Amino acid sequence: MEAKPSDPWPTLLSFSVQSQNEVHEKFGGIVPELASRAHLQNILPCLRKVLDESGLELHDFHFFSATDRPGLVGSLLIGHCAAKTLACLFDRPFIGVNHIEGHLCSLFIESQPKLPLLALMVSGGHTSLYRVDDFDNFTLIGETLDDAVGEAFDKGAKLLGLGFPGGPQLELAARAWPASDLPLPDPSRPIINFIKFGSVQTKDLDFSFSGLKSELVRIVQKRGSLSALDVSELAFHYQEALFRHLIQKVSLALTQDSYKSLAVVGGVASNLALRNKLEDLRSKCSLSDIVVPRASLCTDNAAMIGFRAYRHFLNNEFSSLRSDIHATTRPQKKRKAASL
Ligand code: KG4
Ligand code: ZN
Repeated sequence: MEAKPSDPWPTLLSFSVQSQNEVHEKFGGIVPELASRAHLQNILPCLRKVLDESGLELHDFHFFSATDRPGLVGSLLIGHCAAKTLACLFDRPFIGVNHIEGHLCSLFIESQPKLPLLALMVSGGHTSLYRVDDFDNFTLIGETLDDAVGEAFDKGAKLLGLGFPGGPQLELAARAWPASDLPLPDPSRPIINFIKFGSVQTKDLDFSFSGLKSELVRIVQKRGSLSALDVSELAFHYQEALFRHLIQKVSLALTQDSYKSLAVVGGVASNLALRNKLEDLRSKCSLSDIVVPRASLCTDNAAMIGFRAYRHFLNNEFSSLRSDIHATTRPQKKRKAASL
């Protein structure tokens, strides 16, 4: 991300994502200790790659930044140490960035939607709705009361015996339903009634996904061993139910306030079935824009952290070299009353 004070809109020159899926997949989930070690091994090669691709040198940068919350502390520490060291070496400011604000900023990297907008944040750790009035003001208006939707994908995939990471695997399994190379379902067996999944009762703009997961547990236990057909059938209906709940809350939020655009950010936004459902929504409501960043900007990436840091830079908001990292978003502000 090239940061020129004279240029209000940054240009993305290069970014590099080093997947850790291979490290974690045999454990069926993220192992914090291994994640920290992988960060340590990957951070300098990633930096080298973006410097080579962009043709920039380290002394060209106006500031250095890293995520400071929320996240796995070991991994956050690696990023902090690297960025703070560069800030010291090149006598530049250091800027700590909130990961969630980074995801929200991912929508601005390659588009300039009309504001105010409604943003749906769907990741492995968060599922929330925000009113976004400008690049720096995000007001929380709804959030999950239990699991995040990405977590529901990951847990569902595990239950169905699918690999890691669960979200993309479950999406693939769901896409195979109904597939022509699979035998037709046994008509004597009742089709799973996930309809009630779509009518999860939560207040206002809050979400809840744990009931859907329990329902899946119940169905899997009842069926016993699962055939490939069972897996794709259950994956399809489970995914449909999760998305029905998301779309239901987004539709409600759109009626409660006046928004010019809708954006969906976070890892789950890379799901094609969700993207198609958003297209359907576009035809039903009078939004001028529906923004979903390209898939590589939806899942965790440094470009979104760079964009958020750039906004802090323009606002003269710098962090101390003594600044700390935090596992959670702190302080937990009161709903509806406060921005992040
Ligand atoms: O935003 P992200 O990369 O990291 C967090 O901040 O959590 O999101 C990761 C989450 C995981 O739960 C992953 O399973 C889910 O996003 N995810 C997906 C897809 N790709 C990633 N969920 C559904 N469909 C996908 N294609
Ligand atoms: Zn994330």
